[in-house]
Amino acid sequence: MTLQPAQKATDSSKALYGGKQSRRITVHDIAAAKERGEKWPMLTAYDAMTASVFDEAGIPAVLVGDSMGNCHLGYETTVPVTMDEMTLLSAAVVRGTKRALVVGDLPFGAYQEGPVQALRNATRLVKEAGVGAVKLEGGERSLAQTELIVQSGIPVMSHLGLTPQSVNTMGYRVQGRSDEAAHKLIRDAKAAQDAGAFAVVLELVPAELAAEVTRSLHIPTIGIGAGPDTDAQVLVWTDMAGLTGGKVPRFTKQYANLRQTLGDAAKAFADDVAGGAFPAEEHSFH
Ligand code: KIV
Repeated sequence: MTLQPAQKATDSSKALYGGKQSRRITVHDIAAAKERGEKWPMLTAYDAMTASVFDEAGIPAVLVGDSMGNCHLGYETTVPVTMDEMTLLSAAVVRGTKRALVVGDLPFGAYQEGPVQALRNATRLVKEAGVGAVKLEGGERSLAQTELIVQSGIPVMSHLGLTPQSVNTMGYRVQGRSDEAAHKLIRDAKAAQDAGAFAVVLELVPAELAAEVTRSLHIPTIGIGAGPDTDAQVLVWTDMAGLTGGKVPRFTKQYANLRQTLGDAAKAFADDVAGGAFPAEEHSFH
């Protein structure tokens, strides 16, 4: 069927990215985008100001990832991140955004004990920080947690493939390469969907496997190092903007060089202060 121009305009006005509506995005909008076959972007954020930039740029979903451990709080991994830290920074991101769906991560130790602990911490993120959804790692192993949180009225995003909270057992490497591991990933994705998850992050899995998972689910997949065929793509913002120091993962594309820009700005300020050029007359009061 060929769409008439008016219908096309209506459809594009609903788009998650580039659409016209300005109210906050919900998980229903995310589901509708999957039905339309729309691809959409997600970025992490850990503070209100950065989140407001992404919101104004039209990013429809912002993840307050536990990557804040490495990218914001100076830890070596995501493992030490606490619920207090997650709640504080999630609240900042919610305050900095008007339109984006804000997803708060449940950090390591916040849901592994079982469904009741998971619900308690998910509830905290909704009530104290105001997030619209939570994310947790694991498919079958987090099934009971996902079910109880969803049944209690909180949307859950599942995270499969490389799950950084398991770095001590899993390491950082591509997941799902063997037939057995691929079947397990597909089972996990279906289990997450059946438990009520509204989306599944696929981290560091072969592109063909991510494509197969995407085809087999009615909820969207969000890829990071999972090739081009997932419904959405997520990047850690400091990697995307070139702020992360040292080596960045191969799957990241760097869209700016903020580390250089900020460093240059800091040096220019320092030179001005040392040389007496700042503050000048226009920066002074009399
Ligand atoms: O914590 C995080 O930023 C994440 C993304 C990498 C998906 O989980």
